[in-house]
Amino acid sequence: MKQAAIIGSGTMGPGMAATLARGGMDVRVFDTSEAARQRTPGEVEVAAGVLDRIGGPAAARRGEVSVTGDLVEAVADAELVIEAVPENAEIKAQVFGELDRHSRPDAILASNTSGIPISSIQKSVADPTRVVGMHWSNPPHVIPVIEIIAGAKTSPEVVERLRSAVLELGLVPVRVLKDVPGFIENRVLYAIMRECLALVDDEVVAAEELDTCVQWGIGFKLAVIPPLQLLDVAGLDIYNAVASYLNRDLNGRADVSETITSRVGRGELGMKTGKGLFDYTPDRAQELRQQRARKLVAVRKAIESA
Ligand SMILES: NC(=O)c1ccc[n+]([C@@H]2O[C@H](COP(=O)([O-])OP(=O)(O)OC[C@H]3O[C@@H](n4cnc5c(N)ncnc54)[C@H](O)[C@@H]3O)[C@@H](O)[C@H]2O)c1
Repeated sequence: MKQAAIIGSGTMGPGMAATLARGGMDVRVFDTSEAARQRTPGEVEVAAGVLDRIGGPAAARRGEVSVTGDLVEAVADAELVIEAVPENAEIKAQVFGELDRHSRPDAILASNTSGIPISSIQKSVADPTRVVGMHWSNPPHVIPVIEIIAGAKTSPEVVERLRSAVLELGLVPVRVLKDVPGFIENRVLYAIMRECLALVDDEVVAAEELDTCVQWGIGFKLAVIPPLQLLDVAGLDIYNAVASYLNRDLNGRADVSETITSRVGRGELGMKTGKGLFDYTPDRAQELRQQRARKLVAVRKAIESA
């Protein structure tokens, strides 16, 4: 694929555009917001710099990223259109209706949705076989995994075409065979976060030490030995013995911990508001973002080195 379009250039769009361009695709980015369009070139450049530091495969000819306020122009020649507008089913339905009308009939229409079923997005288009989930992880230019989700009507050929394109970009595709809520990554992450919050809520451990335990225990380990391989390392008999009493004791609540709901009610939303589970000055938040990006790049290189 040589020509792509990205619809929506907020947190995710610029990093996705830089990644596709590094792989040789020309990318047209469309956003309805003038402010987002103005921010995009600078953010694409920053993401391209991070990609250079990671140093993964790059096409001999880097693609060009252009920004437009005209949706029809953005998608006119695109073989791959990636939607990254806000996580709102109505907005996505309206956008997909337009993509269906204005894109090439053979273009793949992919959604970066974190949780809206692909099968429901497919209802907004005349040809649902070309609609597929393409779930990037944040920051999209640093985390290489991409979940490719087949909706009820997605053609297997579209899944395979997208998978080949992802492989050619040097990224890591994972096929999600059923359109389950949260797909794979978020289901696993949210299971971990529910248990972490329950342990803090039940005063089993202080918040800082919970993070230390996960980071230096399973977090560090899982980056090298993923969970199903870890079962073989630990021994299935050990897992069987522990899981037979522990599974029933793990947190299974269906609602959200008050630790989260009370803070959301007070507008304490995390780094973006200066306060969430922890406190941040603007300088500290910026320093943490940069430090974490550097560390993620170093960990990725270490994993790839073996
Ligand atoms: N932020 C994350 O960590 C993350 C991770 C994975 C997936 N996602 C998913 O990616 C999608 C985008 O997330 P985000 O965090 O980048 O959102 P965001 O709110 O930061 O950005 C969305 C952008 O879309 C633009 N927009 C709104 N309506 C539009 C329209 N009709 N046409 C074109 N542009 C429009 C907005 O102006 C904004 O710039 C969501 O579905 C989200 O769930 C986000």
